[in-house]
Amino acid sequence: MSAPSVPAKLGRLVVVGLGLIGGSFAKGMREKGLFGEVVGVDLDAESRRLAVELGVVDRCETDLAAACQGAAVIQLAVPILAMEKLLAQLARFDLGDALLTDVGSAKGNVVRAARLAFAGDNPRFVPGHPIAGSEQSGVEAANAGLFRRHKVILTPLDSTDPAALALIDGLWRALGADVEHMQVEHHDQVLAATSHLPHLLAFTLVDSLAKRSENLEIFRYAAGGFRDFTRIAGSDPVMWHDIFLANREAVLRTLDAFRDDLDALRDAVDAGDGHQLLGVFTRARVAREHFSKILARRAYVDAMHSNDLIFLANPGGSLSGRIRVPGDKSISHRSIMLGSLAEGTTEVEGFLEGEDALATLQAFRDMGVVIEGPHHGRVTIHGVGLNGLKPPPGPLYVGNSGTSMRLLSGLLAGQPFDTTLTGDASLSKRPMNRVAKPLREMGAIIETGPEGRPPLTIKGGQRLTGMHYEMPMASAQVKSCLLLAGLYAAGETAVTEPAPTRDHTERMLRGFGYPVAVDGSVARVESGHKLSATHIEVPADISSAAFFLVAASIAEGSELVLEHVGINPTRTGVIDILKLMGADISLENQREVGGEPVADLRVRAAKLKGIDIPEDLVPLAIDEFPVLFIAAACAEGRTVLRGAEELRVKESDRIQVMADGLLALGVKAEPTPDGIIIDGGPIGGGEVWSHGDHRIAMSFSVASLRATAPIRIHDCANVATSFPNFLGLAAQAGIRVAEEGKA
Ligand code: S3P
Repeated sequence: MSAPSVPAKLGRLVVVGLGLIGGSFAKGMREKGLFGEVVGVDLDAESRRLAVELGVVDRCETDLAAACQGAAVIQLAVPILAMEKLLAQLARFDLGDALLTDVGSAKGNVVRAARLAFAGDNPRFVPGHPIAGSEQSGVEAANAGLFRRHKVILTPLDSTDPAALALIDGLWRALGADVEHMQVEHHDQVLAATSHLPHLLAFTLVDSLAKRSENLEIFRYAAGGFRDFTRIAGSDPVMWHDIFLANREAVLRTLDAFRDDLDALRDAVDAGDGHQLLGVFTRARVAREHFSKILARRAYVDAMHSNDLIFLANPGGSLSGRIRVPGDKSISHRSIMLGSLAEGTTEVEGFLEGEDALATLQAFRDMGVVIEGPHHGRVTIHGVGLNGLKPPPGPLYVGNSGTSMRLLSGLLAGQPFDTTLTGDASLSKRPMNRVAKPLREMGAIIETGPEGRPPLTIKGGQRLTGMHYEMPMASAQVKSCLLLAGLYAAGETAVTEPAPTRDHTERMLRGFGYPVAVDGSVARVESGHKLSATHIEVPADISSAAFFLVAASIAEGSELVLEHVGINPTRTGVIDILKLMGADISLENQREVGGEPVADLRVRAAKLKGIDIPEDLVPLAIDEFPVLFIAAACAEGRTVLRGAEELRVKESDRIQVMADGLLALGVKAEPTPDGIIIDGGPIGGGEVWSHGDHRIAMSFSVASLRATAPIRIHDCANVATSFPNFLGLAAQAGIRVAEEGKA
């Protein structure tokens, strides 16, 4: 965050209107000591008296002109309909160099009033709106901390003086606010939708029910739902009356759109159209959560340090018992994608309720697919067929998930509508040319950000043509992306991989009845077939099980069973590598569910030794290296990894980040361009940083089993992307890790 652009000491601040907002601004500024003096103006004598008594201002003035004469900043915090008169009065004074700003909740009318008063644009007027109202009102509720971590929207005009804007921006930031700049019209439209419409609905619902003859009856039985929905109908009627008159046009637009949606729901109820109702309700249920996540992630990027989730892993412990780790991430993503494109209703069990797979789920909801759940891993997808997706209302935000972005890009390249795919800070740094380039060769039109990074903007309505692509890297995401594009491309699409990569897409396409030909390293699809709904049972994720395979191997006295783990041969490199190092892992109860092999894995502690990791195992253990490095640190002798440069472009640069962490714990680890050299030895305690990478955070949690002192692991929030209950299961199995402060 940039430092506030506020000079050391300003002259006088005048706050006109000493209500909750004006009073809180005055009090906050007074406490910060940025102004020589803070002067209040209010028509109400009692408010003036209280303002001085409560230390909100240094003094009050009854004469507006005297207060403003020679002021540095004048803050207008009167009711919005009083703004016009106030501005007209101010325009008659000689304001010298004073900056004007305001806090009105609609901006169009204030800007118009200012233009009228000053006979044109006033470059020293900076319109603003702090979003920090509360049920309380009046100067007695003034609170210097009211704006901390609240949004303040400034709506400068082209003519606004940049220095004036910077100063007002700096003042709000000094109060701890998150300041954003917006166009006036955009501000009014956004507020009409997010604040004004809900208040209108609450007022009208209560009034409409209260008018009925049976109203007593209705209110007597009105339970939580009514109470929750109508809480805001208790807001100040005069203030809201002002706001609706002030923001008339934007409110009308939002209200009309809402009325259309309400009519559509009415028709659905009338016609008994349960599908339509379910669609609206399921989308709405998750939308709130989804949006808050997007917003939280934005804030997370801005304020990385204040939102640092720290794991504290205490040394020692051993593992025992039987656990089932959550569902496979790769298979969960694909179940939503193919279930959505299938004809009929697909039931999924064991779905991973982690943020990555949920991002895929939300993307399909945004494209009109009705999806019920997830509830305890159960998801019901009402497939729309290969050509049934609808244009999403805005960009598809896929958070941290590379799999969502890369697989979706292939599928979206074949749709008749345009889409944009965006992600969080980590995903926004990852390479997308690996999919954009071959898709373009098939006829897709895709734009990326600089250097092939997200966002991806995909132009719809393009004719794709199948091709034979030789992948330059062993990537299941690229392969899957192209096979999905192949469902929409003329003729045959074939992908050759330089080494075997996970084949869940090929297996699941077949499970949905879509023919896929696999011949050695080449997978082929042809368009013109369809997907038929099916039942999918997602096995436990071997990539999540891997943390416990290593944990139980390195912690003396351990014996642990991991139930129902997917052991697809394209994923079992971690077992092979650990066995080469001397681990004691046996596969029990091997069986096949829904086209994927599964087994219970029994693992006992063993003395591990360092090895040269065979390069052909790298793609088969690609996600498990962070925790394998922990195994290497606990092994006797040297472990060498080569041919793994892909690790540098995962959720973090996993070679560098792991090497840094291991070194911090006193382990000898030397990164190389395509791998790492680790000498086993004692592990100390210390501080490590996961750089927002879920697998790094979990790997260092495992390291604590052999550490001599606690390990503090920073930046662990993203563990929720792949393993939501990691801390719970880790504690249950015997790893002494917990969120710091919540042990
Ligand atoms: C995945 C493929 C792998 C893996 C990722 C999931 C998939 O990525 O690292 O976690 O589901 O297809 P690459 O294909 O980039 O190696």
